[in-house]
This record gives sequence, C-alpha cells and structure tokens, in this order.
Amino acid sequence: MLIKHRKASDVLGSEITPKSVFDDRRRFLKTAALAGAGLAASALPSLPAYAARTKLEGVEKTKWSVENLPENDTPNSYEDATSYNNFYEFGTAKGDPKDNAQDFKTSPWEIAVEGACAKPGKISFEDLIKPTTLEERVYRFRCVEAWSMVIPWVGVPLGEVLKRFEPTSDARYVYFETLLDPEQMPGQRAPVLNWPYKEGLRMDEAMHPLSILAVGMYGEVIPNQNGAPVRLMVPWKYGFKSIKSIVKIKFQKSMPPTSWNEAAAREYGFYSNVNPKVSHPRWSQASERRIGEIFKRKTLMFNGYEEEVASLYEGMDLRKWY
Ligand code: MTE
Repeated sequence: MLIKHRKASDVLGSEITPKSVFDDRRRFLKTAALAGAGLAASALPSLPAYAARTKLEGVEKTKWSVENLPENDTPNSYEDATSYNNFYEFGTAKGDPKDNAQDFKTSPWEIAVEGACAKPGKISFEDLIKPTTLEERVYRFRCVEAWSMVIPWVGVPLGEVLKRFEPTSDARYVYFETLLDPEQMPGQRAPVLNWPYKEGLRMDEAMHPLSILAVGMYGEVIPNQNGAPVRLMVPWKYGFKSIKSIVKIKFQKSMPPTSWNEAAAREYGFYSNVNPKVSHPRWSQASERRIGEIFKRKTLMFNGYEEEVASLYEGMDLRKWY
C-alpha cells in the first residue's frame, strides 16, 4: 500500500491557516469525523469517564490567574482554543484533532514514572485532580508556527509531582512520552513523526515553578483535542514542547530524544525557548499572530517570562542551544 505523507518538517510551518478559511473547511471535515467515530471502542475496564466539559473542583487562584495578566493579554475564547489544534496523532490539519479525537478514551489513565529515582511508580489522573492540588494558571502559549493564544489552564506544578518519586542525582533530564495506540489515534498509522510523540526537559526546567502538568482548561477537564487527560505546559518554550496525553515520564542522565528534533534537528532544537532573535531556518520568530487578532504583535523573549526563567540559561549561547 502506498501511503502518501508529507515530511514532518514541511508540515508545522506551512499550516498557518487563516481562521476564516479553516472554519469553512471544518464543515466539510465533520463528515469524515462521523465516518471515523466507530474506531475507538476498546476493552478497558470502566471507571468514571470524564466527559467533555466536566467541571474540576477545588481550583485555587494563583498569581498567574487572569486578574494579574497584563491588559493586552485577554484569554482566547474556548472555541478558538479547542478548534485550532496541533495533535498529529489525530491528523495534521488544524481542525483534525477536534473532529477525530472525540471518542479517544482517557479513563482510566495512568502515567508510569521510572528511571533515575528512588521510588518509581505510577500516578493516575484521579491522584492529580485531588482537590487542593489544582491551580489556575493563565499562560501565554506561543506556537513555533508564529501564532499564539492565552489559555486558562488548570494544573499541578510539575516539580511537586516529580519530587514524589524521589529523583536521584543521575536525574539530569526528564523524558515524556505520549500514548502509542494507532487503533485510537489514526495519525499514528502513518509515519508522519517517529511515534510515540516524545519530549524532554532539563531537570531544572522541569522543577521550575512555571512548569505544570495540565489537567484542565477553562475550569474543566482538558478536551481530547487539547491533550486529555494530562499534558505538559511550559509557557516559555514553543508549544511543541507541551506534549499531550502523557503515559510515561522517565528521569535520565542523558539528554532525551524529542520527536521534532528527530524529524528535523536543524529546525527544532532540544531547548526550543521562545526567542525572537533566533529565526527558524524557514521563517522569522520576531512576531506572532494572536489567534483572533488581525495585526501581529512582537514576540517577547522567553514568551514574556524572561524575569522568571532567564537565569536558567545564564552563560549559554542561545543561538547554539536553540
Ligand atoms: N503532543 C502530541 N502528543 N502530539 C502533537 O502533535 N503537538 C504540539 C504540542 N503537543 C503535539 C503535542 C504542538 S506543535 C503544539 S503547538 C501544541 O501541542 C498545540 O497544543 P494545542 O492544540 O492545545 O494548542
């Protein structure tokens, strides 16, 4: 069988679809989604399912809550944030994840935590959403494709979760992996990326208070297309570092492989910090289009979180370590 697909590095940058065009296209894509809806029934034991739009209880306000955002950083609409997505496991067009991920089974869900730690184990979605641990974090989100959004996440500080497993001194990096399940994830049936989707952070980046494991958006569970039930959110890095539907976390000594770096190393580095001064080889990163706005705005160093994170990279040549 001949599978026609584009090289992964061709896709990310060239898919900046104006919203009007994209909205029109979605009407046609709906038909395809209905045809694919029968695919996902799998035989997992039934636990309470977190249906779309389930409200999360006990979410604490934080200094990153919406009240403290600059005036020109109004959160995007729920509709924008949940219909313009990158989640290649469900297709490469921006409307594909919403159309194709609706039957994705996210309960029960566990993340295996292993590698250089004293207490390897598992963490379930239920453990993560226990009231009193959830925080509202409204973060700017900057995609490497030069668009951005502002999204109210609900999450738990990644560092606090990692500490429970007692990482050892060999834990210099943290590796993350998405579910591999081509039956449920039609995009994985073609070699668009080297599946499963992989990402990594240096240990100090993972422990930084801005990094969260997100379990919700807009006060509700994460919609499937946005990476349900658990995804990473590292707001000073390009969006592709925010790996979705995580099933594995591993502490390790060596720098982990990452999907986009494997696909095109010259274009996507390990660090991928938002940096308006370092262009992508095929386009500038100096400005961005906030989804829902007409005029571009300047991209800020570290996506506007410079004060909080610049010290992590002191002395590093950020052109070399892009
Ligand atoms: N995680 C997985 N597993 N698969 C993906 O294709 N895409 C990344 C990131 N995480 C991706 C992923 C990219 S390129 C971006 S920009 C963000 O998810 C998009 O997140 P959003 O759809 O919530 O805006």
